[in-house]
Amino acid sequence: MPAAVIIREARLGDLDTLVGLLGLLFGLEADFAADARRQRSGLEQMLGKGPRAVLVAEVDGQVVGLATAQVLISTAEGGPALLVEDVVVRPESRGLGIGRALLARIEAWGLRLGATRLQLLADRDNAPAHAFYRACGFHPTNLVCLRRTVPTAGK
Ligand SMILES: CC(C)(COP(=O)(O)OP(=O)(O)OC[C@H]1O[C@@H](n2cnc3c(N)ncnc32)[C@H](O)[C@@H]1OP(=O)(O)O)[C@@H](O)C(=O)NCCC(=O)NCCS
Repeated sequence: MPAAVIIREARLGDLDTLVGLLGLLFGLEADFAADARRQRSGLEQMLGKGPRAVLVAEVDGQVVGLATAQVLISTAEGGPALLVEDVVVRPESRGLGIGRALLARIEAWGLRLGATRLQLLADRDNAPAHAFYRACGFHPTNLVCLRRTVPTAGK
C-alpha cells in the first residue's frame, strides 16, 4: 500500500466525492441504481450519531476509497455483528491494498464494539469483488438476499 494512504472517518466536506464513489459502485451492481440524491441522504444519515462507521482512504489529500459499516444485533451470534457496505476504491488506486486497509479498519472498529462477525452482500457476477473478499478472509454462505421495496408516496 502507498505509504501516503490515510484511512480516516469521513466528514461532511467529503460528501460530493463520496456520492461520486457510490455512483461508481452502484453503476456496477445490477440490483442498485445510482441516484445522487438518495446516496447523499443515506451518507448524511450515516454521518450522524449511532454505531456506524464511514471510513475513507485518502492519498495526497484526495479521497480514493470508501467503506461503511453498521452494527446490528445478531441472535445467531448472541451479540453485535457488522453489516459492511459501500466498499469501493477509485479505479486508478486499486490493487494497492487500500480496500484491504479499509476493511481492516472497519473490523478493528467493530471489534471495539464487540462485533464477532462481518457480513456483506456482493453482486453474484462481480468476480473481482469476490476474489477481493476471499483474499480478505470472507467466505460465501448458503444465504440468499430477499428484498421487498415498500411503496411510499413521493419517492
Ligand atoms: C473490490 C475493490 C474494493 C478492491 O479494492 P482494492 O484496493 O483494489 O483491493 P486491495 O488492493 O486491497 O486487494 C486486497 C486483496 O484482494 C485481492 N484482489 C483485489 N482485487 C482483485 C481482483 N480484481 N482480482 C483478484 N484479486 C483481487 C488482492 O490481490 C489482494 O490480495 P493479497 O493481499 O492477498 O494480494 C475494488 O476493486 C473496487 O472498488 N471495485 C469496484 C467496486 C466493487 O466491486 N466493490 C465491491 C462491491 S460488493
